[in-house]
Amino acid sequence: MTFAQTYAGWKADPEAFWLRAAEDIDWVEKPIHALNDSRAPLYEWFTDATVNTCWNAVDRHVAAGRGKQPAIIHDSPVTGTKHVITYAELRDRVARLAGALRAKGITKGDRVIIYMPMVPEALEAMLACARLGAIHSVVFGGFAAAELAVRIDDCTPKAIIAASCGIEPSRVVHYKPLLDGAIEMADHKPDFCVIFQREQEVARLVPGRDVAWHEFQYGVDPADCVPVEGSHPAYILYTSGTTGAPKGVVRPTGGHLVALNWTMRAIYNCGHGDVFWAASDVGWVVGHSYICYAPLIAGCTTVVYEGKPVGTPDAAAFWRVIAEHNVRSFFTAPTALRAIKRDDPEGALVGRHPMPNLQALFLAGERADPDTILWAQRHLNVPVIDHWWQTETGYAIAANPIGIEQLPVKIGSPSVAMPGYDVQVLDEGGHPVAPGTLGAIAIKLPLPPGTLPTLWNAEDRFRKSYLAHFPGYYETGDAGFVDADGYLYIMARTDDVINVAGHRLSTGAMEEVLAGHRDVAECAVIGVADDLKGQSPLGLLCLNKGSTRDHADVVKECVALVRDKIGPVADFKRALVVDRLPKTRSGKILRATMVKIADRQPWKMPATIDDPAILDEIATALRSIGLAKV
Ligand code: COA
Ligand code: AMP
Repeated sequence: MTFAQTYAGWKADPEAFWLRAAEDIDWVEKPIHALNDSRAPLYEWFTDATVNTCWNAVDRHVAAGRGKQPAIIHDSPVTGTKHVITYAELRDRVARLAGALRAKGITKGDRVIIYMPMVPEALEAMLACARLGAIHSVVFGGFAAAELAVRIDDCTPKAIIAASCGIEPSRVVHYKPLLDGAIEMADHKPDFCVIFQREQEVARLVPGRDVAWHEFQYGVDPADCVPVEGSHPAYILYTSGTTGAPKGVVRPTGGHLVALNWTMRAIYNCGHGDVFWAASDVGWVVGHSYICYAPLIAGCTTVVYEGKPVGTPDAAAFWRVIAEHNVRSFFTAPTALRAIKRDDPEGALVGRHPMPNLQALFLAGERADPDTILWAQRHLNVPVIDHWWQTETGYAIAANPIGIEQLPVKIGSPSVAMPGYDVQVLDEGGHPVAPGTLGAIAIKLPLPPGTLPTLWNAEDRFRKSYLAHFPGYYETGDAGFVDADGYLYIMARTDDVINVAGHRLSTGAMEEVLAGHRDVAECAVIGVADDLKGQSPLGLLCLNKGSTRDHADVVKECVALVRDKIGPVADFKRALVVDRLPKTRSGKILRATMVKIADRQPWKMPATIDDPAILDEIATALRSIGLAKV
């Protein structure tokens, strides 16, 4: 079947399409219906079925006789270790951990926060929660204690599973003091914490609250898989929105299983026994979907890589991992390739490790710039597939489905909408625009299985953030256009979200932190273009009237404050003190115009500007740090 036929088949009968895809999942009670639209415009999938995610990701492969196949390969250049876990070992490890959690009172529906680096134990913790029907929420290690505290208060976990430390090439990240600080700050307190003590740092345990990973599991009865409803939340993953408070994206169990399993063949062309590697982090959606769940649901071997694209030890690290573990499909962010290209512009290191099994390179997380794609095409000699998705969807909205049919690649486009997604480009009034015309990208409701049905404890915010602006559609927050062949082009965000090194960050959250500095009267954070990281945050600070503080000191304190409150991942390293910020007459800060000036893009004087002279002052300030036209 061609891709066009597959897409048309879905469009003609979505219910039949997803019920067919559901046949590849082991259900406890099979679904009779796929879509539940009884609460439209809120939709759910597979609500009449029961299932367990861990069974589908682990046990069923052992039951089918593939227990000796590697499930996880941990490759950790930062600790100098490599380690393989088979499906049978993974089942035993996960069942034991789940048994220990159950013995401490964790049951279906309880929340468990996981705060761990790229170690197999992070996946085991996720799967152990899934085994019990507990809802995990993984928090990325690059966030500060305050961000962890916000998540603790929002999802009120009964337990937190953490590692003693993470390892960045330049330093050991002390997770435990961050965890202790976060619990101290949060109003909600977990009943207990399980600490995975790593060799690189043994953390101090709080008596009565903390238990060590191994001791915790000693002598417990392993737990079986607990069936849950198809709409039961598998996990909550917080992501940046327009305001400082992160959004708790809910992932429903049944749709997650069906859709991820479908993507593994259709998009990534992988199945039983193939090695699949997503070089991301379990703290991001890519890590949830394509380091942990999808490759395991599909019976592949997943690579858990604890290292960087460059410097661990060099720009050949990715090629070494692909060659050594015989990776078939590889997924990373454009920023990682840019880092490699910067260190190895001629691709001299690529040939050092023959990669005969590699069939394609997949890119997502941010716009893939043509230079990077061309470099990868030239040196890797495999299709380079850009695909577009979001934490909210959990898998690709637009892609090039090489497992069905490889479509022509158009550089600069993540290709076409996948089955499940009716993507439209709309004008401000919500009307579809002609091909080639820029507009807001929206998806006709209902969204397909596995996408967010709501935000955790925040249905109103879900409606307001995604459904209110264009009735009948889900608003993606991205702007772009579609060409005459139906290829999408994702050009920018329509909100305050910026994308730094493939990490989704909220400028609003950074502004909230900066506004808390005692000398800052007003501020704006903008994302300016960055050759390596795509975008980089820049703060513009107006100090309190009469302030005599040294500007350099205030900037230094502000940089430290954002690192302390949001974390190193914000990568907030630059700020400028300015006298005034440009605003519309109604008082809205003209951030987009400042971005254009900083990036040397053509820009128009906004008709509603209050005082045009302020933009000259801003341009002068930007020039002082090498931005804007000279
Ligand atoms: N725990 C703690 N700190 C972390 C962290 C983690 N898991 N991950 C990153 N950080 C820290 C970094 O050490 C750095 O700290 P520093 O300011 O002290 O140097 C800071 O957060 C910013 O990190 P990053 O933006 O990632 O920059 P980098 O210079 O360390 O690395 C790249 C640059 C391009 C190599 C790296 O960003 C990369 O590999 N990106 C790919 C991202 C990705 O896979 N995204 C997932 C979406 S698909
Ligand atoms: P996240 O939720 O962290 O996955 O970030 C999602 C956002 O990243 C999207 O809304 C886009 O703005 C951006 N993004 C992801 N993939 C792509 C892509 N292939 N091309 C352009 N932007 C992308």
